[in-house]
Formats: sequence, structure tokens, C-alpha cells
Amino acid sequence: MRVSRSAIIAGNWKMHYGPAKAVSFASDIVPQLARILRHTVHVQCILCPPAISLSAVRAVLDVEQAPRLDLGAQNMYFEEQGAFTGELAPAMLHELCNTVILGHSERRMYFGETDESVNKKTQAALKHHLRPIVCIGENEQQHEAGQTKTIIQAQVKGSLSYLPASQVKNVVIAYEPIWAIGTGKAATAEGAQRVIQLIRELYAHLYGTEAAAALHILYGGSVTSANIDEFIAQPDIDGALVGGASIKADFVEIVHKTAKLVK
Ligand code: PGA
Repeated sequence: MRVSRSAIIAGNWKMHYGPAKAVSFASDIVPQLARILRHTVHVQCILCPPAISLSAVRAVLDVEQAPRLDLGAQNMYFEEQGAFTGELAPAMLHELCNTVILGHSERRMYFGETDESVNKKTQAALKHHLRPIVCIGENEQQHEAGQTKTIIQAQVKGSLSYLPASQVKNVVIAYEPIWAIGTGKAATAEGAQRVIQLIRELYAHLYGTEAAAALHILYGGSVTSANIDEFIAQPDIDGALVGGASIKADFVEIVHKTAKLVK
């Protein structure tokens, strides 16, 4: 991680913890996270519970008032409002949180999301002052076939084109190789660094070197407190999007280790 960029550790709770369980878990981890975050200005932490639990977790965060401890959603629709049953608009989310995960591979795989819809959502999020965490990554077959670079190039261009110049620095990208998600088989830190460096170069091509230098790029896929150090030690990796370990006490340990490393 470059010294000029802070580290971001985001926890994607996926479809775990309705309001009651979310309050109980958040009440447990938030005071511990707050203690860590009060001692460093270089780490930001984002909790992303299911949408139905956002206000419950918001209430816990409001009590603790920890600096750099934010709340994020896991998805949203790009329209402002209207007849879109079951969807959530950017402005609605912005009442509760400041971040939104977009284009997670599970959304692409099970709910038909495409680079085009992710691009529309990214633009809508920025317009409504939500920081998008845009997920990209190749699947196992593409990985084995040596197509990672081509796939990543297409996803960066497809998901991240036409962003307003004033807002391009506010995007966060999460590189999540699909074969590493939920498998316990994380990418090597060097392998992740190579792809993330490529993503930064592509972003520079789209939006200039200054925006690319400020861009936060996270690694995601089987991150735990046992491997976070290796990723944070890489020059282009600015933190992690954590799935499975984010709904356990290990999440606090991940943030703790990150804080020690970036001090
Ligand atoms: P994992 O998930 O940490 O459980 O591999 C990461 C993600 O899906 O964001």
C-alpha cells in the first residue's frame, strides 16, 4: 500500500444477520473497531450488512461515533425512484450510509448483472454521493486459460467508463478473483499485486495518472487475519473486501493487523 493512500477494510456480510443478529454482532465488534480506529488515521473500515439491517447497524454506529468507521450497502438500483419493485434507490441508501458495493461476482452470477448495469449503478452512486466499491475479477476457467488480463481490461472499461471527472477519485475497486471467493484459496499476494497494478494502469489510461494514484484498489477472496499482512505489504493493494471473515470476530483482528502495518 502506498503511504499516500489510506487502507480500507470493508466487510461484506452478504445474506447474513437480520436486524436482531446484526445489532448483537455490531454491538460486539463496533466498540473494538472504534478503539483501533481512534489510534490511526490511516485505516478506514466499512461494515456492509444486508439492506434490511442497515438502520439497525446505523444505530449502533451512531452511539459509538467512531472516526473512519462507515456503513455500506451491498447493492442498489440506478434509477432515482419509480415502479421498480424490490429495488433500492441511491438517495434512499444515502439516508443511512455512504458506500455501496456494486457488481459483486455473486450479483453478476446469480442476478444477471453486467458491466453495463454496473456502469450505470456506479454513475448513479457517485451522483448521490455514495462511494462505490466496484467489484471485478476473473473466474477459475478464465484464470486457468491465462485470460485474466483480457477479462480485467474488459471489466474495467465496461464498468468504469463515463464517470464524472470530478468524482473519479471517489471510486473504490475491489479485485476479487471468483475462484478465491469463499473457497479458502486466496490469491497469492504477488499475483493479486500484478493484477491490481494492471487495474491502476488502466484507470490512469481512462482518467489520468493523478486519479489513478489516488484510487483505492482492494483485494478480496478468502482474506483472514492470517493472510492480510501479505496483501497490505504490496505497493498497489490498499486493503481488503472481506466476506466470510467479516461476520466473525476475526474481522476485528484483520483491522487490528492492518492498523499496525500502516501506522
Ligand atoms: P470471502 O468473500 O472473503 O468469503 O472469500 C469475499 C467477497 O465475496 O467479497
